Amino acid sequence: MCGIVGMVGADVKIGEVLDALKKLEYRGYDSAGIAYLSAHNTLNYHKKKGRIDELLDLMQETLKEKTQVAIAHTRWATHGEPNDVNAHPHIDCTNKIAVVHNGIIENYSDLRERLIARGHVFVSETDTEVIAHLIEDNYRGDLLEAVRRSIVQLDGAYAVGVIHADEPRRIVVARKGSPLVIGKNERVSMLASDVTPLLSYTRNVIFLEDGELAVLEKGRYRIFDLQGNDVVKTTVHIDWKEADAEKGGYKHYMLKEIMEEPEALRKALADRIKEDRVYFEELEKFKKTLREVNRIMVVACGTSYHAGLVFKYFVEWLSDLDVEVDVASEFRYRNLHVNERTLILAISQSGETADTLQGVRLAKRKEGKVIAVCNVVGSTLTRESDAAVYIRSGPEIGVAATKTYTSQLAVLYLLGLYIISERYGWNKEFGELIYQMRNMPEVIEGTLAHSNQLREVATRYKDYLHFMYIGRGMSVPTAMEGALKLKEISYINATAYQAGELKHGPIALLDEQFPVFAIIPRDRLFYKTKSNVIEAVARNAPVISLATERDEEVGEFSKDVIYVPKVNDLLYPLVMAPYIQLFAYHVSDLKGLDPDKPRNLAKSVTVE
Ligand code: F6R
Repeated sequence: MCGIVGMVGADVKIGEVLDALKKLEYRGYDSAGIAYLSAHNTLNYHKKKGRIDELLDLMQETLKEKTQVAIAHTRWATHGEPNDVNAHPHIDCTNKIAVVHNGIIENYSDLRERLIARGHVFVSETDTEVIAHLIEDNYRGDLLEAVRRSIVQLDGAYAVGVIHADEPRRIVVARKGSPLVIGKNERVSMLASDVTPLLSYTRNVIFLEDGELAVLEKGRYRIFDLQGNDVVKTTVHIDWKEADAEKGGYKHYMLKEIMEEPEALRKALADRIKEDRVYFEELEKFKKTLREVNRIMVVACGTSYHAGLVFKYFVEWLSDLDVEVDVASEFRYRNLHVNERTLILAISQSGETADTLQGVRLAKRKEGKVIAVCNVVGSTLTRESDAAVYIRSGPEIGVAATKTYTSQLAVLYLLGLYIISERYGWNKEFGELIYQMRNMPEVIEGTLAHSNQLREVATRYKDYLHFMYIGRGMSVPTAMEGALKLKEISYINATAYQAGELKHGPIALLDEQFPVFAIIPRDRLFYKTKSNVIEAVARNAPVISLATERDEEVGEFSKDVIYVPKVNDLLYPLVMAPYIQLFAYHVSDLKGLDPDKPRNLAKSVTVE
């Protein structure tokens, strides 16, 4: 969703600010813009519907120009269609104040009416424009004070960056509900929606909390609360490398990130398996809670929700613990029976997903105990949870979650074993699972080496308009994730069903134009799944099966078979994940689409 950056300091090139903005492209957007002060401190701005590259074309002459202060924005439209006028930055009536904003101002209509009554002239349909006029209204020669007075009138969520032509060496920022990170080196101070634009400048960053403001000046910043008191915060060191967030010779980030899965798994598992036991240093203080809770609820969205489903099947299979999994946007509106003996597992790659955060806040109000399973160090979710377990995937730029899904699975398997063994003691059966988990990076490395086969299969199926993914037991989440991957990056109508549900309705859809993607490992449900696949074949549906190596029986009823190595029944979701991702990737690429930037989608979904 919207991304904001800002830079203040010496010799900041306009092109440099837009380069920083480009690092946020992956979040998803439909227009972009920049505002900066010229040498004579006049406010200049450029905004354009479409890609940042189009803005760059428009600004060719200006890119090498230097400024002391600039803010820039990628917009993902909420209020008002994507067009040049609605793009950020938004400017006040005096043409001196520019604002970039990520979030939604819920009371913008009331504010807009009040400001119009006071003589302000609005030009866009956005909620954000009220912020610029409100600050103008409150400005008495001190931008920090004007921003502070203004934001207390805003309902909703915001991360804002504000500049004023009369205070040419500072940016004022404020946060409530939307992510905002700041950092500095000797030459510049910066703000951004996440750490990726900052990595070329510094690895030591500060995540602002709700209700905090900051003034950024060359090489320094000061942070305040809403009462104007200084706030002292500790910096967080980010160990991601800049190159991790680059394409490294691959055609797309998505492909690169799938290929990075073995390495990401190694990092996810590192130091968490010791002498064939599972160990989570970050949960040492949480052990008592893990023994005391009597219920586990998983809250997550999209791909993270699918990882939560795998966790449920896994834990319930190995213990008598019940695990409930809910999509966060539903969880938060249920009459939740959460109390101090409920463990909430909040799974989120970004740690900024608004629905998941709201679910966690609600559960915490009811005294639930929250563990975040997250990729982004210092993200809002990890700060608001009682404990955080990191999946350590490194930056994921492709909008579709890939390496973070496999790393989530790896961490959740270990976490499941950890929770069960804390409660019931270690079971010998776990030793075999741990042994296989340890080898998983090599196993997946081996499978990725044959990824060309997936392209051949994708070539045969890319032109179908519909797909049905089916599976049973632990293969249901794999089917759901497969369908999600395909639909989000190739725009093919893909649905997922429990294989046994086909005959209760969806089978009516099947014919020779409606392929079935069967998740059919040689596990204890193999023959049950097989009968459902055969029912699909009887309706002439072409079948692609994802099956266990050397399982020739599957070849008898499938048009195409993709084989994965044999593993413990419970680990198939992990070993199969790269295949469903690669299939979707190749279909998307063969259709000439951009899998990294699927239409209408955002990487970090910071609105509800
Ligand atoms: C799909 C995808 C999304 C995210 C979802 C939750 O490929 O990436 O479905 O999984 O938006 O995001 P996080 O995990 O950041 O909470």
